[in-house]
Amino acid sequence: MLNKKIAELLNDQVNKELYSAYLYLDFANYYADEGLDGFAHWYEVQAQEERDHAFMIRRYLLNSGEKVTFAAIAKPDKTFANHMSPLEAGLEHERYVTSLITAIYHEAFAQKDYKTMQFLDWFIKEQGEEETNADDLIKKMKLFGCDAKGLYALNQELLGRVYAPSATGPAM
Ligand code: FEO
Repeated sequence: MLNKKIAELLNDQVNKELYSAYLYLDFANYYADEGLDGFAHWYEVQAQEERDHAFMIRRYLLNSGEKVTFAAIAKPDKTFANHMSPLEAGLEHERYVTSLITAIYHEAFAQKDYKTMQFLDWFIKEQGEEETNADDLIKKMKLFGCDAKGLYALNQELLGRVYAPSATGPAM
């Protein structure tokens, strides 16, 4: 069993990760509609990774003897002014998720819950990588997205992203 507050925070994080998947699929919908299949693909892969994160936290709760309860997943409500908008919203969202993971980590530290801290270590590293990826996309878009040829090349590059299940994530 886990400390009640930590279990609640982790349960809530399952919802947040599923929302992240939903949000990134919404980004993918936008890009697919714009004819940018590479950008759409990149966010489809991102959505799959977010779903994995939700599954991993759910499994950790179950393996710790906790119940998992689901709440409604919020509707993505972003509207996009241009092709850069989802990229910026993505970075902002990842920074938010980092703050959530960090808050759970703080609580685990306060409770001397070393098992949960170890579990979350993977997520701390993952958030660092996801913020970097989101920032890199913005930089590339600024450099290459301003003309049709550059945008086409970037779209082709993003089409190459390969989904790798997060099986190497936290021990379960
Ligand atoms: Fe699961 Fe991108 O945070």
